[in-house]
Amino acid sequence: MTTTDVYLDDAYIERSLRADVVAGLTADPKWLPPKWFYDARGSELFELITELPEYYPYRAERSILSARAGSLPPVRTLIELGSGYSTKTRLLLDALGTLETYVAMDISASALAAAATQIEAGHPALRVHNVVGDFGRHLGHLPDGPDRMVVFLGGTIGNLEPAERAKFLAAIREVLHPGEHLLLGTDLVKSPRVLVPAYDDARGVTADFNRNVLRVINGSLGADFDVDGFSHQALWDDRNEWIEMRLRARWPMRVTIPAVDLVFELGTGEEIRTEISAKFRREGAEKELAEAGFSLDQWWTDPEGRFGLSLASAV
Ligand code: AVJ
Repeated sequence: MTTTDVYLDDAYIERSLRADVVAGLTADPKWLPPKWFYDARGSELFELITELPEYYPYRAERSILSARAGSLPPVRTLIELGSGYSTKTRLLLDALGTLETYVAMDISASALAAAATQIEAGHPALRVHNVVGDFGRHLGHLPDGPDRMVVFLGGTIGNLEPAERAKFLAAIREVLHPGEHLLLGTDLVKSPRVLVPAYDDARGVTADFNRNVLRVINGSLGADFDVDGFSHQALWDDRNEWIEMRLRARWPMRVTIPAVDLVFELGTGEEIRTEISAKFRREGAEKELAEAGFSLDQWWTDPEGRFGLSLASAV
């Protein structure tokens, strides 16, 4: 049986998109938050990214989950943040014999609905509780314990800036009772020869995904971004140890966004930052978890050490 709570209706999405668009596109340098990639088309494009030969994080994390799912604590409730189509979650659902409820929170209602249909078919006794929400804002609406594990996979924590990350981990800790669990996926620092192609694949799927944020703004706010006028950039920032995705104007443009009364010019080569994807080391992940009130119980990586999975407990 699936129940669905909706905290993000179209009006809310439009309001917060407007606020982000005004803040980001009037800033210098310009930026847009990555959550706006994920409309129905963007969520599908991300699924395609996970199948690309260059995009190792998905397969690396999947291999850790399948090796370690049997070692997870016997929880009754699994809460997944940013669950998308919940493809990797099946490994957890199959392994956790004590599970009664699966709570999936995502910004994409279409991905949640599709995932629930699939999960119900394979796990008829499981309660599926979909929460259409923004994990940056709606954690307070998650169901209470006991015996919960919050899972945040895919390395999505790396899409937050360090200060936002600290706030977010503390907010998760706030939701949990001492002894409840957090399972956190973090992509690890490695050679830019591996990292950069993962974010700039030969087929151009990531480029299309990146440009999707402009389609979302055109569609929701009536903007006139010339989507094909932007080239996809993926750069490794060695100092911050993160990948940065940008959209670079190929020629001079004037952009009008009627819903927020914004008109601006972009020069050739001018860029909009659309995503950071931070890469971690064990010590850094452990420290950030500790600062948020979690103790690290297990640190698992794939055999090649590309991706890290932390199992932590609320202190
Ligand atoms: C949402 C964290 C899984 O940062 O790797 C994939 C999103 N962006 N390719 C990441 C993404 C470009 C992705 N995660």
